[in-house]
Amino acid sequence: MEAPETTIPHARPAPARPDAIVVGGGLIGLAVAWRAAQRGLHVALVDPEPGSGASHAAAGMLAPATEAHYGEERLLRLNLASARRYPDFVAELEGVSGTPAGYTARGTLAVAFDSGDRAVLADLAAFHQRLGLDSEPLSGRECRSLEPLLSPDVQSGLHVRGDHQIDNRMLVAALLTALTREHVTVHRERVAELLVEHDVAIGVRLADGRTLHADRVVLAAGCQSTSIPGLPPGALPPIRPVKGQILRLSVPASAVPFLGRAVRGVVRGRQVYLVPREHGELVVGATVEEQGFDTQVTAGGVYELLRAAHGLVPDIGELPLTEVRAGLRPGSPDNAPLLGPTALPGLVAATGHFRNGVLLTPITADAIAECLVSGQMPEDAQGFEPQRFGNEPRRFSKKAALA
Ligand code: GLY
Repeated sequence: MEAPETTIPHARPAPARPDAIVVGGGLIGLAVAWRAAQRGLHVALVDPEPGSGASHAAAGMLAPATEAHYGEERLLRLNLASARRYPDFVAELEGVSGTPAGYTARGTLAVAFDSGDRAVLADLAAFHQRLGLDSEPLSGRECRSLEPLLSPDVQSGLHVRGDHQIDNRMLVAALLTALTREHVTVHRERVAELLVEHDVAIGVRLADGRTLHADRVVLAAGCQSTSIPGLPPGALPPIRPVKGQILRLSVPASAVPFLGRAVRGVVRGRQVYLVPREHGELVVGATVEEQGFDTQVTAGGVYELLRAAHGLVPDIGELPLTEVRAGLRPGSPDNAPLLGPTALPGLVAATGHFRNGVLLTPITADAIAECLVSGQMPEDAQGFEPQRFGNEPRRFSKKAALA
């Protein structure tokens, strides 16, 4: 049976040779393909099941401030720049696709329990202040007046109005629709091999044997990015999977809104977040585990998440638990993404987004589309070159290998 492909009935026929092939149909790959097609490129995207990996598991937090870390100020600037683009990105996407993307700008409340947790939060508040980020320290009582279901044990908090959220699954659906409008061909197939000739990436071979050739190949395959056969050793620094177990609960209509905004906390040293959706879903996440390509859900992971979330909001104990899964974040050596031309001519990276894939979708898409069109990375996305770790590919092409 032929692999199903997505096109629209009145689409101009896809050219035999696209200008760019995007490998990977998570949020990053989908948005890159959309923006590149809007810039006039003929684009093909390859993924056996678009939007089914980390983009499906994610909670959709757009949280540059509450996820800020010392020593990652350059990444923070990129995160903030992407967050600023979100409202226009979503408005345009919803206009084009006719599909809501589930963006809400209701802020985030970070809270603490014991003195250790309070110290972590106070550090974060000081960091925000130093960087000029808008966040307001609150007492436990003030936290509960914002979120009445918070535990009486919550001692302090930080209200961050600029940290928002999006329904990542709705965003995937909207992007897939937008791709059909832009005549992007989606090959629902696995990439068997990156094709390299004379040390230049020239296309991909699909698992069904077909080959696609293009001037540029964009690697946007998340944690699989450096496992693709044919990728020359050293062309990219290693991308590793970082497991995150995540839960979904269902809030009955009579109890919506259960929470008015995303709530996150350090509960006796353990991080947890609760993200409420308009339609009643409550996402609780996420573990951070170095377990390789393992997506097994464990009793211990679920227990720890529920224990921490229950500590914050005891009423979650009444809610049906509707989904338990594990996703794999693409971790890079410095937790920041790899954006732009790689050491292998013809190959462009859009991967390694680690905890910030959903947040960094708009700026990554704009930057990579610009790179594909002009060969230049825009200024606000510079500094994330895949070669910043000094990786260089060894000679790879068959010709070179035989020489
Ligand atoms: N950005 C949240 C997470 O990776 O768990």
